[in-house]
Amino acid sequence: MAEVVIVESPAAAGALVADQIARLIAGRPDAVLGLATGSTPLPLYQALQTRLADVDVSQVRGFALDEYVGIDIEHPESYRSVITREVVEPLGLDPERIRVPNGSLDGIEHAGADYEAAIDAAGGIDLQILGIGTDGHIGFNEQGSSFASRTRIKTLTEQTRADNARFFDSIDDVPMHCITQGLGTILRARHLVLLAFGEGKAQAVAEAVEGPVSAFCPGSAIQLHEHVTVVVDEAAASRLKLADYYRHSYANKPAWQGL
Ligand code: GLP
Repeated sequence: MAEVVIVESPAAAGALVADQIARLIAGRPDAVLGLATGSTPLPLYQALQTRLADVDVSQVRGFALDEYVGIDIEHPESYRSVITREVVEPLGLDPERIRVPNGSLDGIEHAGADYEAAIDAAGGIDLQILGIGTDGHIGFNEQGSSFASRTRIKTLTEQTRADNARFFDSIDDVPMHCITQGLGTILRARHLVLLAFGEGKAQAVAEAVEGPVSAFCPGSAIQLHEHVTVVVDEAAASRLKLADYYRHSYANKPAWQGL
């Protein structure tokens, strides 16, 4: 089962995961990180700024989860721009080593296969950071996504477009399509770290962690992975049936195990 860690705040979650990433980079300077966008990972990226301040990150590599299709790459809300602004620049990563799926219409037919080949060539992703949508999607794998799926084009649901409209002038400006790592791609990463905060994510977290493994909740794919850490605040944990067990288990975890 996924290890569930219930923390008191998003900042505490960020600090916890930042420590794990720092340990990873200390042991492997060219570690491959899977990078998520959205509001959820921001406390982690903030914590990493402090945690990695004195760490050589020049060799670190990264792959973003997803991108909008047809968006101008220079648009401030393209995931390329977001990853550059929120992760690459503040952490001082080498932009040449950070890839985002190519959502340009030119070559879109093979953009998914190209991205898969690039991940393979990097030796796979060591630690994949994940958020979760209110309907249980991870990356942009909407409900019904195949657990075997690889990086490909998807049509966004109206719910996801509405959720993401806050980043655009209106919902009409939110692209209709995206290119996203598949659930099968995500499951090949060596360690999955899913973050979720706030009451609005409680149902999705409960379904992903404790519900049936079903394409109806793409996040439930994490139950098939052997090394998953779910870090949530009290509000996002509020619908977990086994919350007391997760607290007990984490409180008694040997320190040497890390996350
Ligand atoms: C988008 C992203 C997902 C993210 C989700 C939740 O759909 N493609 O990767 O997990 O939003 O976003 P937030 O963290 O802002 O709630």
